Formats: sequence, C-alpha cells, structure tokens
Amino acid sequence: MARCKCNGQVLCLVLLPCMVMGHLLVYILVSIFVAISYHSSSSSVSPPQLPSHFIASGASRNTSALASHPLSPFWNLRLEEGALWNQLQHLRDREHNPILRGANSTKFGLFLEGRNSSPPCGPQPRWASLLQDFNSLSEQMKDFVLSMDCRTYPVLIDQPELCRVEDKGQAPVLLMAIKSQVGNFENRQAIRETWGRSGWVEAEDGRGSGLVRTVFLLGRQDAMTGPHPDLGPLLDLESSRNGDILQWDFRDTFFNLTLKDVLFWDWFAQNCPYARFIFKGDDDVFIRTDSLLEYLHSQSAKRVKKRRTQMGWDFVVGDVISNAWPNRRPDTKYYIPESFYKGAYPAYAGGGGVVYSNSLALQLRGVSRRVHLFPIDDVYLGMCLHRLGISPTHHAGFLTFDLPEREKERPCAYRSVILVHKRSPKQMLTLWNDLRESLSEC
Ligand SMILES: *[C@@H]1O[C@H](CO)[C@@H](O)[C@H](O)[C@H]1NC(C)=O
Ligand SMILES: *[C@@H]1O[C@H](CO)[C@@H](O)[C@H](O)[C@H]1NC(C)=O
Ligand SMILES: *[C@@H]1O[C@H](CO)[C@@H](O)[C@H](O)[C@H]1NC(C)=O
Repeated sequence: MARCKCNGQVLCLVLLPCMVMGHLLVYILVSIFVAISYHSSSSSVSPPQLPSHFIASGASRNTSALASHPLSPFWNLRLEEGALWNQLQHLRDREHNPILRGANSTKFGLFLEGRNSSPPCGPQPRWASLLQDFNSLSEQMKDFVLSMDCRTYPVLIDQPELCRVEDKGQAPVLLMAIKSQVGNFENRQAIRETWGRSGWVEAEDGRGSGLVRTVFLLGRQDAMTGPHPDLGPLLDLESSRNGDILQWDFRDTFFNLTLKDVLFWDWFAQNCPYARFIFKGDDDVFIRTDSLLEYLHSQSAKRVKKRRTQMGWDFVVGDVISNAWPNRRPDTKYYIPESFYKGAYPAYAGGGGVVYSNSLALQLRGVSRRVHLFPIDDVYLGMCLHRLGISPTHHAGFLTFDLPEREKERPCAYRSVILVHKRSPKQMLTLWNDLRESLSEC
C-alpha cells in the first residue's frame, strides 16, 4: 500500500510538468492554425499587383522610362564623393530620374552642359583634369579615362546573315558570343570543333536540343603594345570560311572589353533578337553545351508552367560574385584607383561566362545607355542589371575558378559542370573526346 502511495506521488510529480507542457503545446498549435487560416483566407482575395518598378504618378514626361532609383532604401543615395565614375553616374541617374531633375548643381553638371547629344569620340582630356592623380595612373586606366565617353565604333567585319531563319523556320535556341582576339586562331578553331559547333545540337537527355549559333567578338590588334605581324588577310580568310567573326574598330585591350558587350547588344537587337538565350564568355573556357541546353530547357519549362509565357523573361545565370570590392593593388590587371570608383561592386556573374535570355539582352541594351562605361566588363554587366532591378542567379556548375587540381583529369568530375575555366585549345579537344566517351559511365 505504502509503495503504491509513494508511486502515486512520484507519478504526480512527473505528470504535472508534462500536462503543463501539453497545454502549452495545444495553445501554440491552435495559434498557428488560426494564423494560417487567417493568412490563406486573406490571400485568396488577391492583393493588387504592383509594378516591379516604381513610376512616380506626377512624372512629367510620358515615357516608358523607369525611375532608376530607389532600388535600395531611400536614405542610401549611393553617392560616393570624390570618385569620377560615381559622380558621372550619379548625374546620369538623376538625368533619367523623372522625380529628381536638378543635376546642374555640382561642378560636373557644368561639363554636361557643353555636351552635345552624341558625345565626341576623340580623346577627352576634360575628365583627366578632374582626376588629381591622373598622371600617376596606369597606362590602361589613363587610356580608359580618355576614351570612356565613346561607345560607337565602326564595324570592320559583320555577319548580318548569322541568325537568318532557315527553311524550317527555327530561330536559334542559343547564340554563343565569345570574346576573342585577332591572334587567337587556334582557340576559335578548337571551339568550332568542340563545344561551340554551329548547327543542331542535341541536349544531354534529348530535351532542349536546338539550333546553336556561334559568333566571335573581336576588336583591332593593339598597335600600342608594339608592332604586330599583319594578320588581317588571315582573319578575312577565316571569316569568309566560317562566317562567324564580328570585328569592330577599337583597340582590343582588357579595359576595352566592355565595348564588346555594348556593341554586341546593338548587333544582337538588329541581327539576332529571336535567339532564345545568349551565352557570353571567353575563348579559353570549356562548356558542356549539351548540359547547358538541357538546363536552359528545364528552366524554360518551369517558367512556362508558372506563367504560361516566355515573354519578358529576365533570366541571367552564372558564377555569381556578391559584395566584391574593387582591387586596389596597383600592380594587378584589375586595379581600379579610388579616385575613379568607390564602393562595393553590385552582384555580378564572373567573367568566364554568363547566360541570359533574349529579352534581358534587349533590356540591357537600353539601360546600358544610362550606365557610364566601366573598365571591367563583368562588373559593368552587374551594374546594368542592378539598374534594371534584376539579380543574377548563381549556378554551381559555372566554375570560373576551375576544379581542384586532382579532379581535372577525371572525366566523372565534370558530371555536374556546365562551364569550366580555363582550358587551352588542346585541352578542349582532349576533354571533349574524353567526356563523350566516358561521361555516360559515371
Ligand atoms: C503614355 O503612353 C502610352 C503609350 O506610349 C499611352 O498608352 C498612354 O495613354 C500615355 N499616357 C498619357 C497620360 O499620355
Ligand atoms: C540644367 O542644365 C540643362 C542643360 O544641360 C538645362 O537645359 C536646364 O535648364 C538646367 N536646369 C536648371 C534648373 O538650371
Ligand atoms: C579603346 O579603344 C579606343 C579606340 O581604339 C582607344 O582610343 C582607347 O585607348 C582604348 N582604351 C583602352 C583602355 O585601351
């Protein structure tokens, strides 16, 4: 009997807290259900669809122009005093901002006043005079500052027929726009023979197969770095044989690469706007084109399911780098002095290669006219995206920093890779053959 009583007390001691906890749990569950049912009943009355960009109701001009700000909190003006690019861009943002139009108050406003509608393309010493440390800058930075107002250059070799719709009436699924230089004949040929082959390309699992077109973006050989053998006739021959060379009349230097994007967007709008996707990348990367096609197909299918349309799709994917800061080491290729640019870079897709939709390419073309040229091309693309209010999507298959050393030779390591940087022409051919033979066995 006594044993039993004792057990009852113990039982009480144990059960009491359990019961308290149990009531608490019931209470929490009930609150959650109430919250959920409230939420779902309120969301069944669909809220008014807001436009993705804010357009002031009192905007004086009736344009389709979007207010370029605020994309971030309104107290963040993003004006970094004292850096040339930031100042110039701030003025442009205001120039195109229907709410704030009073750009004349700064000293840079004076320079804008004397500007005619199509900026002159000669050297522009006036920007140099605004940079106190101009004379101590690197040669490439000086060259950039002197010519950064100019973004129209004549076409030397054109390919107006590249995307001509064939008898079957099919536009390309993918246009590969590859940055190359006059002397890189071997890279281009290796690309044509491997991942950049023009024509019908089968996707990895058959879905997404389609027409692929390839075009190489070139400037002029840079005579400033010393005399070059004249490769012009060879290039003409190559172009007439393959019909895939686009060349413009500007010096092909690292800091002029942004021009290739800007000029390519113009060319694209005119000559190939129906190509569904654009790959833009370097001539020393390796792409698993079949895998890329399959990925793009799966993304399109998802999109169609959700929205029932491909119209106006803002799609951009790559190896996304967020919160990067300008390189401040004067001895490096990427060096950007503080007097030229201040602040972090917007999120951008690493330079090896990026893929975007055709409608985004057309938007980029438009917005780029409002974004001052910047010497680093992938950052420039990020700046344009930022002004469109679009963030690039990260994909782990874009390896702009390559695989680990011991994995490079193992074909199975490429199973989930879409892009890898960097590969020589010879390595491209080897890898292409290896992957064709052995990837199915992984
Ligand atoms: C603005 O322009 C659009 C098309 O360009 C037109 O449909 C609209 O009526 C215009 N709005 C006003 C207020 O003029
Ligand atoms: C600002 O400058 C433009 C010319 O660039 C001029 O047309 C405009 O009247 C000026 N605005 C003010 C408020 O001074
Ligand atoms: C870009 O090309 C133009 C035209 O050839 C040239 O004047 C300028 O110096 C080049 N800029 C750079 C940074 O090389």
